[in-house]
Amino acid sequence: MKFNNLLVEKSDGIATVTVNRPKALNALNEETLKELLACFAGLEADVSLRVVILTGAGEKAFVAGADIAAMKDLDAVAARDFALLGQKVMHLIEHLSKPVIAAVNGFALGGGCELALACDIRLAGNNARFGQPEVNLGVIPGFGGTQRLPRLIGKGRAKELLFTGDMIDAGEALRLGLVNRVVPPGELLGAARVLAAKIAGKGAYSVALCKEAVNNGLEMEIDKACRFEADHFALCFATADQKEGMGAFLEKRPAVFTGR
Ligand code: CAA
Repeated sequence: MKFNNLLVEKSDGIATVTVNRPKALNALNEETLKELLACFAGLEADVSLRVVILTGAGEKAFVAGADIAAMKDLDAVAARDFALLGQKVMHLIEHLSKPVIAAVNGFALGGGCELALACDIRLAGNNARFGQPEVNLGVIPGFGGTQRLPRLIGKGRAKELLFTGDMIDAGEALRLGLVNRVVPPGELLGAARVLAAKIAGKGAYSVALCKEAVNNGLEMEIDKACRFEADHFALCFATADQKEGMGAFLEKRPAVFTGR
């Protein structure tokens, strides 16, 4: 599928999706959000894919937020629809059956920070800048930032970022647990690919079930969540990858997983 604002490249079971509106620092307008929806729906359906990397075009930005020019004159109903569209994108990414790695290569502000938060793992270039600056614009985050940020870094830390609109650098983001790792900008995509390839070599079904267990279990009471985990554990025993993984260990050879 051809997109106006996204570049999509696939190789070795890894898709790299690049938000490509560099003249607006990759800001998310309605068209880009709809393209992300279509793109990720396609990635979900592609059984040859194991892992997705999400990044931004250019040297300067991952995504500098929702598109302010496009939002300025919205009425309340249109603003709600816009927020719900953005949330649908974040939900699709968060619940994609394949891991999504954000390679944050510059500004990740507002909707851009929310996009990174919807990903499973965040790697940052040391030029990355994070923030939820919506209060500077007289609004609040609309793509899930008030919910995912405190779930990731804790209520108090999230509230400080949300209330002040302050931008933080990659080192501070690492300290807060907002990103997994910081690397030199020139090494960012390479590091994301190495990590993606490592995950792509595992049993795809068990990786997907890990993701589902973490995502859904964390919202449950602990006993129910552990029962949920046991059911997912049991489900693995219906797969060829479980037979292969355990068989290979006992035969002292590397496992060759098929994702079945
Ligand atoms: N929406 C629309 N256009 C944007 C944009 C955004 N979020 N961010 C940057 N741009 C545009 C600028 O308007 C500018 O366009 P022109 O060249 O046509 O003037 C171009 O990108 C380059 O930006 P700057 O000249 O501002 O670049 P800079 O290096 O001086 O500053 C920046 C970079 C600090 C990221 C600054 O652009 C900025 O503060 N951007 C806005 C960040 C922001 O507030 N994001 C939150 C949006 S609200 C939101 O996302 C709500 C939600 O949750 C749904």
